[in-house]
Amino acid sequence: MDPEPRKQQRSDGSVVAVAIAAIVLTLCGVGVAAYYFGKSNGSSTPAAAGSGGGGSTSGSETTAVSQEIALGAHAFVQFACAQCHGDRGVGGVSPYVPALDNLAPNLTAQQLTTTIEHGAGVSQDPTRPFMPIWHGIIAKPQINELVAYMKAGFPDVATADAVTVPVNQGDATAGQALYTKYGCINCHGPNALGGVPNPQSPDLTIPPLSGKDFADEFNTNAKIADVIRSGSVIGKAPIVSMPHWGSILTDQQIAQLVAYIKTLT
Ligand code: HEC
Ligand code: HEC
Repeated sequence: MDPEPRKQQRSDGSVVAVAIAAIVLTLCGVGVAAYYFGKSNGSSTPAAAGSGGGGSTSGSETTAVSQEIALGAHAFVQFACAQCHGDRGVGGVSPYVPALDNLAPNLTAQQLTTTIEHGAGVSQDPTRPFMPIWHGIIAKPQINELVAYMKAGFPDVATADAVTVPVNQGDATAGQALYTKYGCINCHGPNALGGVPNPQSPDLTIPPLSGKDFADEFNTNAKIADVIRSGSVIGKAPIVSMPHWGSILTDQQIAQLVAYIKTLT
């Protein structure tokens, strides 16, 4: 049972094939080794991304930023700051909402923090959007990240993008994406289940947009649309109030949100 003699009994063709295969495998091995050698010897500069403070990677449109600033850029999208103040704070969404790109870097960190936590004086005008009060909704470290991002001048951070709203898939499907894109989910919870604390308010929590009580009170599409458009000012900071989305959301988008909300009860 010695395998060697059998191998020698193979035809010449097999031996040549095995020899060629061995050479090819060896060359591949050298190639792979050279590839990894090259990687570990300086061709892996993208690893520097995330550790710097604004150095740009060559040939890329995206600037490497610190983790704090990157988190701030994502929070700016998550909390829909971008939907009122424009992508990267450039404005142009509503005449009532200022651009922040030139303004915010010149405000102090304390001024920015106070505005995020307590708003800019709750507007009693139902036809105009106001700066929401985020105290208790946005965690303190996240507020610091938002401030760092704004102070850094709103750098471009890859994938800090709002969700895509599907088209031609029905109003409720679009509304589901809008519910995330416009940050409703941060205050009314996933699936509009509610439960987010609002300690100073009479209900102690931000209301759900689902369930029997909601369906009984908001029993027409128009009632739901009205409160989305004009909100409800329930008091002064630190009470979290329903923002006014008129002039931010179009009538069609509001109808899509209503269609989605109605699928949840
Ligand atoms: C519903 C729309 C809306 C959303 C969402 C929103 N803002 Fe605002 N924001 C405003 C409006 C309107 C003002 C102008 C002041 C006012 O009328 O309340 C404002 C003012 C500000 C200011 C103050 C500018 C100044 O003149 O001092 C800052 C800073 C700011 N917003 C940052 C943010 C950040 C950060 C977020 C996300 C966490 C955010 N905003 C989300 C509407 C919005
Ligand atoms: C900053 C937190 C916040 C955000 C963001 C927010 N809401 Fe609200 N919302 C509230 C609060 C607080 C109330 C309760 C107002 C009251 O009782 O007067 C409310 C009330 C409502 C109501 C009426 C329900 C009820 O029982 O009073 C609807 C409908 C609603 N919101 C829809 C939305 C939609 C749609 C979005 C996203 C476009 C949204 N909300 C974003 C805080 C928020």
